[in-house]
Amino acid sequence: MTLTDSARAVRENAHAPYSNFKVGAAVRTPSGRIFAGCNVENVAYPEGTCAEAGAIAAMVAAGETEIAEVAVIADSREPVSPCGGCRQKIAEFAGGDVPVTMATLSGEIRTVTVAELLPGAFDTGHMDRT
Ligand code: THU
Repeated sequence: MTLTDSARAVRENAHAPYSNFKVGAAVRTPSGRIFAGCNVENVAYPEGTCAEAGAIAAMVAAGETEIAEVAVIADSREPVSPCGGCRQKIAEFAGGDVPVTMATLSGEIRTVTVAELLPGAFDTGHMDRT
């Protein structure tokens, strides 16, 4: 089972009654464990959360803090691209060379790196004033 398969499976559980756009995401850690998440929308729209955020929260709750690989899938024409906030969330736990595979339900796949998704990422170095 690939990481995209995990993302595809969890996508079925997405709660997306407002956008009708279900997204699934999965992260693999260096230990080989996989954590999955789906988008969870809310009637108060800004309270909704993205699939990537769910997968990352599950990883951290399980005691892991390093991402080796990411997969995201949706029923879109083009492979779905993580939103800006999720790019920053991924960068918190993944190095720039970590692959992010974006897929459509029909099987189109595109893989880029975290650095390509978020060039010039804000990091702790930007808080250094010395
Ligand atoms: N969404 C995600 O879960 N991940 C993304 O990378 C892009 C967007 C969700 C948020 C919202 O529930 C729906 O897709 C439409 O924006």
